[in-house]
Amino acid sequence: MPKRHLITCALPYANGPVHIGHLAGCFLPSDIYNRYLRMQGKDVLFVCGTDEHGVPITLKAKNEGKTPQQIVDENHTIIAKGLKDFGIHFDTFSRTTHKLHHETAQDFFKNLYDKGIFKEEVTQQFYDEDAKQFLADRYIVGTCPNCSYDNAYGDQCEQCGRASSPSELINPRSALTGNSPILKETKNWYLPLDKIQEEFLNEWVTNKKSSWKSSVYGQCNSWLQEGLKPRAMTRDLDWGVPVPVKGAEGKVMYVWFDAPIGYITATKEAAGDDWAKWWKDSETELTHFLGKDNIVFHTIIFPAMLHAHGEFILPTNVPANEFLNLEGAKISTSRNHAIWLHEYLEDFPGKTDELRYALTSILPETKDADFTWKDYQAKINNELVAILGNFINRVIVLTNKYYDGIVPQGSLQQTTTEAKQKIETALGNFNQRQGLEYYMEIARNGNKYLQDTEPWKLIKDEANKQAVADCLFTCIEIVKEIGNYAQIFLPNTSNNILSLLNISSYNDTIKAGHQIGSPVLLFQKVEDETIEKQMEKLQKKEEVKPESNAQNGQEESSSSIEPLTKSEITYDDFVKLDIRVGTITAAEKVKKADRLLNITLDIGSETRTVVSGIAEHFSPEEIVGQQVTYLANLAPRKLKGIESSGMILMAEDANGKLKFVAPNESTDSGSVIA
Ligand code: MF3
Ligand code: ZN
Repeated sequence: MPKRHLITCALPYANGPVHIGHLAGCFLPSDIYNRYLRMQGKDVLFVCGTDEHGVPITLKAKNEGKTPQQIVDENHTIIAKGLKDFGIHFDTFSRTTHKLHHETAQDFFKNLYDKGIFKEEVTQQFYDEDAKQFLADRYIVGTCPNCSYDNAYGDQCEQCGRASSPSELINPRSALTGNSPILKETKNWYLPLDKIQEEFLNEWVTNKKSSWKSSVYGQCNSWLQEGLKPRAMTRDLDWGVPVPVKGAEGKVMYVWFDAPIGYITATKEAAGDDWAKWWKDSETELTHFLGKDNIVFHTIIFPAMLHAHGEFILPTNVPANEFLNLEGAKISTSRNHAIWLHEYLEDFPGKTDELRYALTSILPETKDADFTWKDYQAKINNELVAILGNFINRVIVLTNKYYDGIVPQGSLQQTTTEAKQKIETALGNFNQRQGLEYYMEIARNGNKYLQDTEPWKLIKDEANKQAVADCLFTCIEIVKEIGNYAQIFLPNTSNNILSLLNISSYNDTIKAGHQIGSPVLLFQKVEDETIEKQMEKLQKKEEVKPESNAQNGQEESSSSIEPLTKSEITYDDFVKLDIRVGTITAAEKVKKADRLLNITLDIGSETRTVVSGIAEHFSPEEIVGQQVTYLANLAPRKLKGIESSGMILMAEDANGKLKFVAPNESTDSGSVIA
């Protein structure tokens, strides 16, 4: 049994606000775990902060004509406020630009340096003589050796997707000035991961096989199988933590070196002089929460750093989550296909538990999950309102009605012990979705008990007086238990239930004679209109790009040919698509939507209405009579209030021009394409 628990949540990168993918990936899981441990009376510290260094922030600053500090200040404020309002209960939410962090990271670096851990190496790096700086890979553009695209980045070609290094580019140019950079020698400090793997990581990771999630262990293991290479921990850049050693003037730490040290800084901020026990005492259990893209940094690089330092404990578990998709497509910040936390909080004031519930119920614990507004609505209406809220409301209403709100003398007919044990086991094993299901079982069983006992019938006969009292006494206990566990899953609701029960803490016992509060509904139904508005909002964001993407919401759009990056599907997947020939019989512009046409399509057996975002490419008149390829069994969706059934397939050429895909000679509408 550890004496105390240190929980970290991956530091969000301060180049933009956070979205529901971040919530489901790490904020919510870490917060639930924190609340769960605290409820058990454990000594817990829960830390996070913003990750504020690194090249992407400097690039964003350049693009927006701001300083990197301005960028991170703005984002830190938005992120910190959003998470606080969402009820993520950090002990501290720090920043890696804090002075204390720079000192902490420098001490750490210096410690490894003094021990002779780093390998110094001089290599040739691109240098911009006008800008007088070395160029990070992202700052170098040139012609891709693979596809000849001439705006490929030094680290990756956006056209063909190939990862490369700047030295492979043909005609490399500086993204800062457009000049051809020269190669110049520079010295950097490398963490010898190859050596640390041999002497430590292989064995340490092997021992985690049974306790870590298989996805985490698997990813980690495959890195080790490949064999680690030394990795530079310093960069020629002017934004970051200055490297505190001689000969490293003008260099900063690699952002992935300083960022995890941010956990230590945050601990210092939270615990003051007492911080060391959280990091240097083997009786502390350290758990890192993060999304799957961060696994290698928390299972290999940071542990290697901690091990090399020698005074620190290592993580016991790294329960990383997979990704959350949105309405069937990858969340994309560049395409603005996202639900931003700060926007949700504005659009849905007071509805944080609703989002927590919807997200917790689909957490991508073992595989990617998909958030849809329809599911959000269904979860709230059919579960929070219809089960949990309804049960509690009935109990409060009946107690007020039969006993003027005064708890009757009764004996307990049911206990919730079994559900409680199941919840706790699930949460202890990081099965939080499952934990939530067990939690809802308490309310489900409560409803069933009430329904089976039917106090509203019993009350009619004086002889059943005690049975009614027993029933409501029992139900009030169940309500209290729901409120108690809501502290983990639905913190606002937990407070609201305290008021309904008129108690100040869940440690209070409710005895006969106690006066409870009057009924107030805990949750409101989500109307169709509300989610339609959100779906439209999502659509609108994406409409900034041409149609073929706007309509299906799947692709990263660009005015060029997409690389072949979709994953392989089976023949069974393919035959699920009902693709047919259709003929456009009418078309008109959709009001207040510059890009949309309302199209009537003859598909042989029937006509269909399809809303398509091609109005900027075609006028309604010119497309009547056009034959098209049509995906007939795509789930209908509403666009600008019009129900659109299916999708017209378009070809998009390298210039972003759209073309219809039609049979090479006129064919009957409804012909099947296979
Ligand atoms: N900023 C990183 C990201 O958003 C996560 C950093 S986690 C830490 O992917 F280890 F650096 F703290
Ligand atoms: Zn390429």
